[in-house]
Amino acid sequence: MIHILLIISSLFIISTHAAVQDFCVADLKGQESPAGYSCKSTINVTVEDFVSSSLNIAANTSNIIKAVVTPAFSAQLPGVNGLGISIARLDLAPGGVIPMHTHPGGSELLLVTQGVIKAGFISSANKVYMKTLKKGDIMVFPKGLLHFQLNAGGVPAVAFASFSSASPGLQITDFALFANDLPSSLVEKTTFLDNATVRKLKAVLGGTG
Ligand SMILES: *[C@@H]1O[C@H](CO)[C@@H](O)[C@H](O)[C@H]1NC(C)=O
Ligand SMILES: *[C@@H]1O[C@H](CO)[C@@H](O)[C@H](O)[C@H]1NC(C)=O
Ligand SMILES: *[C@@H]1O[C@H](CO)[C@@H](O)[C@H](O)[C@H]1NC(C)=O
Repeated sequence: MIHILLIISSLFIISTHAAVQDFCVADLKGQESPAGYSCKSTINVTVEDFVSSSLNIAANTSNIIKAVVTPAFSAQLPGVNGLGISIARLDLAPGGVIPMHTHPGGSELLLVTQGVIKAGFISSANKVYMKTLKKGDIMVFPKGLLHFQLNAGGVPAVAFASFSSASPGLQITDFALFANDLPSSLVEKTTFLDNATVRKLKAVLGGTG
């Protein structure tokens, strides 16, 4: 009997001790490192750190790509910090596109909830995996690979993308190549594009140099 009680009480001690490490809500006052944000003091953690209504809202897609990605990563939803998960909402107006991009930090699982989206990724062997997705369809994009989503219907499309990282990152290839301040001549050499094309893309996407 005493033996059982001892086991129960030691389990209790273990579980109450573990409770302080249930989560590591991001302290957004600090810097984010590759390991994430440092933990906000538990005293200051509230349910609001784990909840967000920001993905309820259809984003304004009046922009050059006619599309918006609304993230709920650590920086927007501090409760996911350290948990290896996050989510984003994609809004694509007719003709909209999330241009070729990568998430260096995590794999993506896309769920289409409205409209029709053509999506694809390119493997390291340069093989294309592409599919037209309708409402309810899901597609996986392995970590780090170039991929895209475009509106393939005549109506606004909505999708939700979950990630295997609290901070998957987003690098849009065209912006990385042409919205930078590298000299055009260097961009020309490293992309095999001609001078006029590089200049045009830099002008459209906001690059200097
Ligand atoms: C909790 O938040 C308050 C207000 O931001 C701050 O002054 C206080 O230092 C925080 N407590 C801890 C333990 O971090
Ligand atoms: C969307 O953004 C555009 C450009 O910034 C703006 O002109 C327009 O009023 C916005 N539409 C809505 C519904 O907020
Ligand atoms: C690119 O073209 C512009 C004129 O369009 C010219 O002034 C510039 O010298 C060219 N740069 C290179 C690296 O050829």
